[in-house]
Amino acid sequence: MKFIANQHRYDEMKYERCGRSGVLLPKVSLGFWHNFGAIDDFGRSRQIMRYAFDHGITHFDLANNYGPPYGSAEETFGKLMDEDFRPYRDEMFIATKAGYDMWPGPYGNWGSRKYLMASLDQSLHRMSLDYVDLFYSHRYDPETPLEETLQALVDIVRSGKALYIGISRWPLEATRFAFQYLRERDVPCLIYQGRINLLDRTPIEEGILELCRQEGVGFISFSPLAQGLLTDRYLYGIPEGSRMSKGKFLRSDMLTDEVLQKIQQYNAEAQAEGLSLAEYALSWILRQKGVSSVLVGASSTEQLQKNLRITTQV
Ligand SMILES: NC(=O)c1ccc[n+]([C@@H]2O[C@H](COP(=O)([O-])OP(=O)(O)OC[C@H]3O[C@@H](n4cnc5c(N)ncnc54)[C@H](OP(=O)(O)O)[C@@H]3O)[C@@H](O)[C@H]2O)c1
Repeated sequence: MKFIANQHRYDEMKYERCGRSGVLLPKVSLGFWHNFGAIDDFGRSRQIMRYAFDHGITHFDLANNYGPPYGSAEETFGKLMDEDFRPYRDEMFIATKAGYDMWPGPYGNWGSRKYLMASLDQSLHRMSLDYVDLFYSHRYDPETPLEETLQALVDIVRSGKALYIGISRWPLEATRFAFQYLRERDVPCLIYQGRINLLDRTPIEEGILELCRQEGVGFISFSPLAQGLLTDRYLYGIPEGSRMSKGKFLRSDMLTDEVLQKIQQYNAEAQAEGLSLAEYALSWILRQKGVSSVLVGASSTEQLQKNLRITTQV
């Protein structure tokens, strides 16, 4: 059935300015790492994406190698653009990335100009887009000169294939260098993507969030629910069909007694505030000064619906 977006889609969501930029991001953004690959049910992926857009989620986060197989999440996204979302393109803020292994041989990984340029062209083709709103270097490459990676990002913006650029998982000193290099070329870094959640506060401890704040760069937190650990999913075992039951990215050995105790403790704190553990975990992140958005994943519209309740609390 033809998709007609909900007229009230902007009524509940709150939007936050991304650093010192003109871009407003929804407090909750949607990631395509899982649940949008060719192995997943297209009908369910479509329901999740429609639900997200209908409830004010305007920011969608992809990467060249999301799937599986690699590239297929972008293909799913492209199909959704063609079938449902083309009329809404200008209401959407779409990101993709390159930095991890994507195709065989020496030019399909890390941070060379060769890889980033070719990868973005491939992504645009798969996503059925003329440009993305945001293109990221997905990880720091210790072997490629930083200037090469960063100049490729600058040139990508100048070519019109991306409107803004960001970096993900870069260490502090390289991040500082990147922010300065990009600012001096009038293509300021829009956003840093890193993992902050109740179980992993590394970007706060290492000073990356503080640097972003000082430099006017936005920060978006990926895996804000620690892939589901910070929800009620694993409080009483490992349910069938859960990410941990599939065991590739979230392994059962990550659910140690210590982690389980922490989750139970956070769950008790959440209940004392009348919140679910997921709501508690997301609102904790959004209270950190400098965080623009949380980038959640969802395997059903019900999960997204539950997680979106926090937009009324933050
Ligand atoms: N820059 C990077 O290197 C990087 C790395 C990782 C992720 N990311 C981005 O961040 C996005 C989000 O990552 P993520 O998927 O790990 O995020 P997450 O929000 O921490 O975890 C999402 C998973 O948690 C479970 N879940 C979510 N809400 C739930 C609820 N209310 N109740 C029960 N279970 C719930 C679901 O897993 P089940 O499958 O068990 O239902 C869901 O797929 C990715 O899609 C990607 O765009 C970026």
